[in-house]
Amino acid sequence: MTVFMNRNISPKRPLNDEQLIEVVTQTAFHEYPEKESTRFKELYASYNQLDLNQIELANGADEWLQKLMIQFGQEGVLTISPDFFMYEDYARQINRPFWKVESDENFDFDLEKVLEEIQKLRPSLLLVSNPQNPTGKQFSYEFLQAIADGMESIGGYFVIDEAYVEFGDDYHRPSNDNVIIIRTLSKIYAMAGLRIGIAIAKGETFAKLIDINHPYPVSNLALNVANAMFSNKEQLDAWVAYQKECQLKLIQALTLVDDVIKVKPTQSNFIMTYGKSARDLGEYLSENGFVGRTYDADHLKDVVRYSILDIDKYDEFEDLLKTWRKQID
Ligand SMILES: Cc1ncc(COP(=O)(O)O)c(C=O)c1O
Repeated sequence: MTVFMNRNISPKRPLNDEQLIEVVTQTAFHEYPEKESTRFKELYASYNQLDLNQIELANGADEWLQKLMIQFGQEGVLTISPDFFMYEDYARQINRPFWKVESDENFDFDLEKVLEEIQKLRPSLLLVSNPQNPTGKQFSYEFLQAIADGMESIGGYFVIDEAYVEFGDDYHRPSNDNVIIIRTLSKIYAMAGLRIGIAIAKGETFAKLIDINHPYPVSNLALNVANAMFSNKEQLDAWVAYQKECQLKLIQALTLVDDVIKVKPTQSNFIMTYGKSARDLGEYLSENGFVGRTYDADHLKDVVRYSILDIDKYDEFEDLLKTWRKQID
């Protein structure tokens, strides 16, 4: 059976059948999802120590990204590259000028270059995922603060896309008014199919952002599934711990080959490998049923990114890594 490691999602879903049946039978889906949305925001804000008045929901982080392009991207959008490929797609869909600051050959990013491009191009919107997709890197506070200040100096907005933030370290965020944080339930909370995305901002930035939101972007069925999870703190904590165990196992597995391929340190639910041998390994694993993420772009043709497996799949995965590694000697 093929195991897909190319989507950065959870290997399985949370909540048991009984809980799910209860959610479905209790959901008043003949009504608009008002109270369910309020309830979710309360639970999410409390679990994550956020101000309830500074968060709003949309149909996945993706919907927020598209709305950000509409509302803040008029003068052009800057990102670093590689980053989440949908940034470019959403900018293109509505003809926003789009620029990228390329990484070096080891997929590291030069802050000075980013700051220079901000002043030269004067984009109205800059997006960075943190931890970053596809490198898995979590940027330092200094890095993010300098970008927030740079964007503020030209009257632009800075989006930190925290789709994978729960897999990284807690960190201090820039508090500038031009900063918007985007989060999702698709990754550590394993609800990609429910499409729940969260935006966090304050003051006028928040007002401008929610100005173009739909009245009811997320269904009450989806919200009630999330509410069932977030109202059971013990179960939620155990789930998060399980996801982090999967992450740790992935990191450990790749140490079996990190003397012969390049592996980026990760603070996410995926790990990036690169170089000619990394591609060979990717092909070998794919032939043996473990499919990583590969890329068409020229500068990424030797990159393979793997996302977490269920705990009981790691033995098989590690055996394959060992067998491949032996062939190299
Ligand atoms: C950096 C980043 N942002 C956003 C998303 C999309 O999240 P959602 O499923 O909430 O639309 C992804 C999905 O892979 C991602 O990697």
